[in-house]
Amino acid sequence: MKLLTLSTALLLSGCVSAHTIFQKLYVNGVDQGELTGIRAPDYDGPITDVTSNDIICNGGINPYHQPVSTAVINVPAGASVTAEWHHTLNQTANDPADPIDASHKGPIISYLAKIPNATQSSVTGLQWFKIYQDGLTVSDQTWGVDRLISNKGKVTFTIPSCIASGQYLLRHEIIALHAASNYPGAQFYMECAQINITGGSGAKSPATVSFPGAYKGTDPGVKINIYQTLPSYTVPGPAVFTC
Ligand SMILES: *[C@@H]1O[C@H](CO)[C@@H](O)[C@H](O)[C@H]1NC(C)=O
Ligand SMILES: *[C@@H]1O[C@H](CO)[C@@H](O)[C@H](O)[C@H]1NC(C)=O
Ligand SMILES: *[C@@H]1O[C@H](CO)[C@@H](O)[C@H](O)[C@H]1NC(C)=O
Repeated sequence: MKLLTLSTALLLSGCVSAHTIFQKLYVNGVDQGELTGIRAPDYDGPITDVTSNDIICNGGINPYHQPVSTAVINVPAGASVTAEWHHTLNQTANDPADPIDASHKGPIISYLAKIPNATQSSVTGLQWFKIYQDGLTVSDQTWGVDRLISNKGKVTFTIPSCIASGQYLLRHEIIALHAASNYPGAQFYMECAQINITGGSGAKSPATVSFPGAYKGTDPGVKINIYQTLPSYTVPGPAVFTC
């Protein structure tokens, strides 16, 4: 039975090119519009090189859909935001791989970085902090991606209330681990939303990491065989910042 499950999973991961794109943001439940304020590529394929600048906001080997939105989404500090993923842009109905193929199990992660101008093209040299992660629930071996699929592509998390107001990029990511036994193998899917945080208290300054740099090919959450019962899972990157 176990062997059957494993070979089915390997078959699926080999044959299905079932990728995904974060393409819409909701702020306190309000739909901001398809591709509004989000740098998203037309092609839904993954990034696999954690040392590439493509790991920051995508848009390199997978060029951005043009024109890139010039919108900056206002987000009150402390707001609840929802990111929505679909298999493709121009999503068709009844696609069994929407929002992502069920084989693509792994964590979902969100980061913020302050940026002088949220619509500037350069995204190198930014200082990122993690605000959300959903990895493995050990008790039933379910992943962030399983919950994303149950939620029809939506992931909801909170923007910290204690950070400084101003313009930020929101880097929202799925790491699919179905082929992660060796590195490269893990599939990194990410897009960045252009946001303007208002009313932040600025009481805290989060510790930050760089992209590339925050992940290594040897990280236990990047190089991992998920086709076994896992006693734990370490989501890549730093701890989640809390106020
Ligand atoms: C896909 O969607 C984008 C953005 O909504 C649109 O500009 C583009 O024309 C669409 N492409 C096709 C092939 O329908
Ligand atoms: C922000 O960047 C965009 C894109 O490069 C540019 O068009 C705009 O003028 C910049 N805004 C400011 C205030 O510098
Ligand atoms: C960000 O919000 C502040 C406060 O409402 C506003 O003054 C500023 O113009 C906004 N900036 C952008 C780029 O939307």
